[in-house]
Order: sequence, then structure tokens, then C-alpha cells
Amino acid sequence: MGKTIGIISIKGGVGKTSSVAALGAAIANFNKKVLIIDANFSAPNLGLHLGIVNPKITLHHVLRDKAKAEDAIYKYKNMNIMPASLLDRQIKKPLTFRKKIEHLKKMYDFILIDSSPSLNNETLAAMMASDELLVVTTPDYPTLSTTMRAIRIAKQRKTPIIGVIINKVYNKNFELTLEEIEEAAESPVLAVLPHDTNVLEALANTTPLTNYSDKTEVAVEYTKLAAALIGEKYTDNRFKAILKQIFSKTPQQDVNRTVLRDLRE
Ligand SMILES: Nc1ncnc2c1ncn2[C@@H]1O[C@H](COP(=O)(O)OP(=O)(O)O)[C@@H](O)[C@H]1O
Ligand SMILES: [Mg+2]
Repeated sequence: MGKTIGIISIKGGVGKTSSVAALGAAIANFNKKVLIIDANFSAPNLGLHLGIVNPKITLHHVLRDKAKAEDAIYKYKNMNIMPASLLDRQIKKPLTFRKKIEHLKKMYDFILIDSSPSLNNETLAAMMASDELLVVTTPDYPTLSTTMRAIRIAKQRKTPIIGVIINKVYNKNFELTLEEIEEAAESPVLAVLPHDTNVLEALANTTPLTNYSDKTEVAVEYTKLAAALIGEKYTDNRFKAILKQIFSKTPQQDVNRTVLRDLRE
């Protein structure tokens, strides 16, 4: 039986959709069966990240009982995607989402769910359909405060949070530190992604970052997180990574990923 992982944050622009595309591709590259779903019902754009512009049948049709979930699934390289409709976005019962995709867990190892930035039934639907959650934040107070809200709601709904992804890090003194974010979120940080224009370039090329430039720090972080999520070991063989291992302390996110991997094995 597969696992559904929701990628959430009650804020736009932090990197949920990019993370779903990149992590999905990274997990698929470990030969796992992956489905990524766009559950950002009112402003979907996961399809656009992969060059899928106007799919005929989407999650919206499934939620309106006009199509079977299987008919809204498309192939993108070695993974599958269920996009949502950009134009025809009416849905009445977003909370039926979980029921509509439940049976797909038999067909996939991992289902990643992209979610809405609004605190509404769409986010709740994504949370309810997820076995576990990854929360995306950026290292600033306003975003962290919305991240903590998302975590509080997830805890009320009893959906386990496996960890936090810190995105768009500039490595500046004014940014919140990993320790501060872990303490506030009461959850381990599982990836620290620098701000990198390669992510924007990958988007412009409608390719998940992990397929677009797999040696960048962001792609390697996603791949390490993917490996931990599936309980596999991954060694970063880049020269600079080897030097880092010799001369610096193991970063906390690496320690956290090892703990997660050991739990998954
Ligand atoms: N690490 C990063 N460095 C630079 N740009 C990024 C990074 N992560 C995401 N972005 C860019 O930020 C924008 C918003 O990302 P997106 O994944 O759509 O966020 P969300 O789904 O949370 O709204 C996109 O243009 C994306 O390419
Ligand atoms: Mg998004």
C-alpha cells in the first residue's frame, strides 16, 4: 500500500508546487511508482510546472463525479500526474478528495499532494487525504507564523507532520536559523534549500529541478530527502560535498534525514 504525503503551507510562493514536482521526480528516479496530484483546486499550476497546459480530464471532473480518478492521470517521464483545471474550477465538495483517491494508493508507492495556500476547505482536503505532511517555509517571521498555524491545524486533525522544508535560503544573518525554525515548529527540518535561479530556470523549461540540474545544492537536498522518505541511502559524491564532510560538522538536516530513513527502512 502506498503512502500519501501532503506538501503544505498556508502561504503562496514558498515553493510547495516546485517541491512536489522535484521530490516526485526524485522519488521516481529511485524506481518508485509516483503520482503527484494538484489539490490546489482554485489556483492549480502543478501541470504547468511540467508543461501540461490544458488537460481534458482533471481532478475537478473527478470531484464532480464526471470522471474516474484513473482517467485524470497523465504520464510525465517516469511518474504520473493528476492535474486540476485552470479554467473550469467549480467544485462543491472538496472534502470528498480523500475518498476519490484512496484506492490509488494500491497502484503507487508514493502519492504527493500539492495544496492551496489558503486556509480553507482545500487545504483541509489535502491534509485529510494525506497520511503524513511536509511543511514548506521560508526563513522569515511572517512565513514561519503561517507555518506554525498550518502545523497547529494538522495536529488538531491528527495528521502526522514528518518535517519541515526550509526554502529560498540566502544564508544571511537576518534570516531565521534552522534551530529557531525547529523549535517553533516542534518538527525536524528535513531539507534546507538555497535560493537558486536554477529553480526558476527549471520552471521556465517545464522540468522538475531534480531532472533539470541534478548537481545543484537544491536538487541534491531534494534527492537526499527523497531517499530518506523511501528509506534508502544516498551518497552525495560531489567533490565539494566530500570536502564538507571532512572539514565541517554534519548539518542538522542530514542528521534528521538519517533518523527518518532509519524509521522507514
Ligand atoms: N529555492 C528556490 N530558489 C529560487 N526560486 C524558487 C525556489 N523555490 C521556488 N522558487 C520559485 O518561487 C516561485 C513560487 O514557487 P512555487 O513552488 O510555485 O510556490 P507555491 O506552490 O508555494 O506557491 C516559483 O517561481 C519558483 O520557481
Ligand atoms: Mg503552488
